[in-house]
Formats: sequence, structure tokens, C-alpha cells
Amino acid sequence: YVLGIDLGTSSLKGILINKQGEVVGESGYDYPIETPKIGYSEQNPELWMGAVKNVIIDLIGLHPDMKTDLEGISFSGQMHSLVILDEQKQVIRPAILWNDVRTSKQCQTITEKAGDLLLEVSKNRALEGFTLPKIVWIQENEPQNWDRVQYMMLPKDYLSFCLTGNYVTDFSDAAGTLLLDVAKKEWATPILDLFDIPIERLPKLLSSQDKVGDLTDEMKTFFGFKVDVPVFAGGADNACAALGAGIIKDGAGMCSIGTSGVFLSFEKDASADYQGKLHLFNHAAKNDYYAMGVTLAAGNSLEWFKRTFAQEQTFSELLAGISEVKPGSDGLLFSPYIVDERTPHVDSQIRGSFIGIDTHHRLPHFSRAVLEGITFSLKDSQLLMEEMAGRKFDRIVSVGGGAKNADWLQMQADIFNATILNLTVEQGPGLGAAMLAAIGAGWFDTAADAAEVFVHYKAAVKPIAENVVAYDAIYQIYRQVYQATQSLS
Ligand code: XUL
Repeated sequence: YVLGIDLGTSSLKGILINKQGEVVGESGYDYPIETPKIGYSEQNPELWMGAVKNVIIDLIGLHPDMKTDLEGISFSGQMHSLVILDEQKQVIRPAILWNDVRTSKQCQTITEKAGDLLLEVSKNRALEGFTLPKIVWIQENEPQNWDRVQYMMLPKDYLSFCLTGNYVTDFSDAAGTLLLDVAKKEWATPILDLFDIPIERLPKLLSSQDKVGDLTDEMKTFFGFKVDVPVFAGGADNACAALGAGIIKDGAGMCSIGTSGVFLSFEKDASADYQGKLHLFNHAAKNDYYAMGVTLAAGNSLEWFKRTFAQEQTFSELLAGISEVKPGSDGLLFSPYIVDERTPHVDSQIRGSFIGIDTHHRLPHFSRAVLEGITFSLKDSQLLMEEMAGRKFDRIVSVGGGAKNADWLQMQADIFNATILNLTVEQGPGLGAAMLAAIGAGWFDTAADAAEVFVHYKAAVKPIAENVVAYDAIYQIYRQVYQATQSLS
């Protein structure tokens, strides 16, 4: 077996996979997010470790032969969140999570201080969610904590640290800190120097499939393993989701719709110049890269809509009527900027809108318009990839909530004008993590070999020519909504 652990923002899930690539066991535990102040989002790393222990105990309960036959563990982790430990390896303060937005001022300082260097080296702009602004926030606001920092790491690295005693991270997660020279794959000393971050405090860099170490004797005894269990570095959740979706060659794209939405493209190197409009990160597949754009309120927009206007209905009831409504929702248009927008506008003030409301519009028109608006927003990212780097998508794998509804899948095919595939399993990031463990354990030589056995798609959804034309016209109108509504917020 190999075990893939997905350390998410609201829960930790483990999937156990056999040599045939079949999921033979699953377990998961939820944990809360603390919001001590508006805009703050924190979590105690010890909760994650508690959840890992429970997951492994559950899975051993299901498959006692794991005690002799588990050949590797690896991780997919929530990105950017900052974990700091002192000399005694104790957590100094709760982790500041990726969705914490207290760091606007620090982002400004970083942008002024680092100038073009940041984009040249880290390939990304300073955004509230990323790690460096959180480090600067601690330096400025909690100097007593900053003085005690001996280890700085990302969430999944805390798990491998506790399980093996070794202090490492991987390139895909390091890329989300703004401290990595993404092309050279080493810590960016010019950036570290600018912000007084001693390189000795940072973890050693590995590829996602590299071995961190074996479980410590204490852990081995705790779980009752009879053999050494190797732990492999793992990767950022988006990188692992991409790996688990088979996004490992040119022309492959991924659309992931959860609370937020991601449109992601495979990149074989770090040469595309997206000018910070998209994120460019190292992939979990060795030596590869990916670019991604983010719609902050994707599933969140639909959630909000249902909660506000159709609380008594289930999601399937709410969406049952949308197939009766034509593409374009009879002139009703929705922009999903209900919390703010990351790609392409990077605007925390903008808010959403319904435009073109007519007396004949009913609930299904509004529901359809919400899905269309979310998908248009993700198309903005697709278009940046096509226009700025000449990407052409021959297939887009849809994952997450957006892949669960047949009408929404057809809508994605029509709006992206590409063939849409979806996976036979739901745990994309966990599957990617398990693939890393399988490659690390020597089951496969490459990500492509692993994907042959682990990644399977359901039937493809093809674009319908007349819908593509209709959506293209509406998308041109959608693109004007941002500018037109900007001054209202
Ligand atoms: C990516 C991002 C989120 C997190 C969620 O930049 O902020 O998708 O990876 O864990």
C-alpha cells in the first residue's frame, strides 16, 4: 500500500491505495478555523497531527496488513500557511493560514522594497495569502515570537517533521512562500537578505517524491508498524491535485471548483512571462511547473446564492432546472466577485453583480447565471494562458464540486471550448500525494508511469458548436462588467 494524506483547510483526509491504483480505504477528520479578529484565519498545527494519527489508526483498523505492507506515506498540503517552531521544536503560535488577509500593509512594503526582484525570482507578486507577508507581519507585530523562531515551515512539512524528525520542504510548496528562486530551485538569498530571514532557519529543499526519512521509532511503535515506513516530501495541494488529475504534459489544463476556483495549466519550465497576473509555481511532478489563476468565490458564490434565495432546496434541486434555460440565461449575467477577486483583477474592493434582470427570469435563470459567471471568471485565467504564453488546451480535467453536475460540465466544455474530462475518484489532491509516495517507493519511475495506473477518467464531454458561439458573445459582455462596476464598490 501507499498512503496519501490531504491536509486541507477544514479537514485532513487519508486515502490508502494498493499496487493496482485502487482506493482501498479512506478516513478523514474535520477541524475548525479560528478567527480571533476579522480577516484573521489561524489553526493550531497540533490539530493536524492529531488528525493524521486518527486517520492512520482508522486505516490500520480497516487493513491490519498495513503494519507490514505500507510502503510509503506522502502529503498534499494547504499552501502558504506559516508554521513557526522554537528551539525545542514547539509550536510558537497558531499557524497563520493562506486565507488570512491581515497582511495588506506588509504586501505593500514587500512590493516597494523588493521591486522587480520579487517577480523575476519568485515569479509571483506579494499577495495577502502568501507566506512572506505573514513572516513580515510577525517581525513587525510579534517581535518576541520572531526572536524565538528556529524552524519555519508549511503545514504538510510540520507533519513530516513530527513523523520523521527531519526538517524539509518541497519545491512546489516552497514556491508559494515568495522565498524560492522558482527557476533555479534554491532559496532566493537576495529576497531572504532584504527581509532579514536567516537561510539556516529554512527547511532543506527536496523534490516532492524524495524521501524525507523513515517514521521515527516512537511513531513506529505508536502505530505498531512492523517495518520501516518511508515518508516522502509531498507537495502543495494545487500541485498534487494537478498530478492526481494527470496534468503532466503540454496542452493539459485543470479546472478545480471548490469554495474558490482554480484554472491551472501545465508548464514544462518557468519561462512563461505572466507578469504576475497568474501564479507560476513548481509542480509536484519532478522538474515541471504549472501556472494558475484563482477565482476566490467559485463554489462560495453558489453557496451564497442557495443560502440567500433557496435555502430549503438541495444543490441538486436548485440546479435541476438549469437545463431548461438556454446558454446565456436569457440575458441574465452574474459576476462572482462577492468576496473580492484575485485573477485577473487582483482587486479586494470589487463586488459581484446580477445584470440584465427581466420580469420573465425565474430561479433557474439565476442559478444558471451564477454557474456561468463562475465559469466565465475562470475563463479569464484560461485566456491569459492562451494570450500571454500561447497555451492551447486539448483537454481540461474538471475536479471538485464543478465536476459533479452534468450541466455544469457541459457549460465548462462550451465556455472553455475544450474537451472536459473528469476523474473516477473524488480525492484528487490525496491521489496526487499517494502517487508521490508510490514513485518515491519505487513502484514507478515517472509521474507519467504512475498516472497510467492511478489516474482514470470518465467519458469526455465535448463542446457543442452553437453553444460555443453563444457563450463567446456573452463572454465579451462579461469582460466589460468588471470595469463597469468597479466604481460602484
Ligand atoms: C493557492 C491558494 C489556495 C490554497 C488552498 O494560491 O491560496 O488554493 O492552496 O490550500
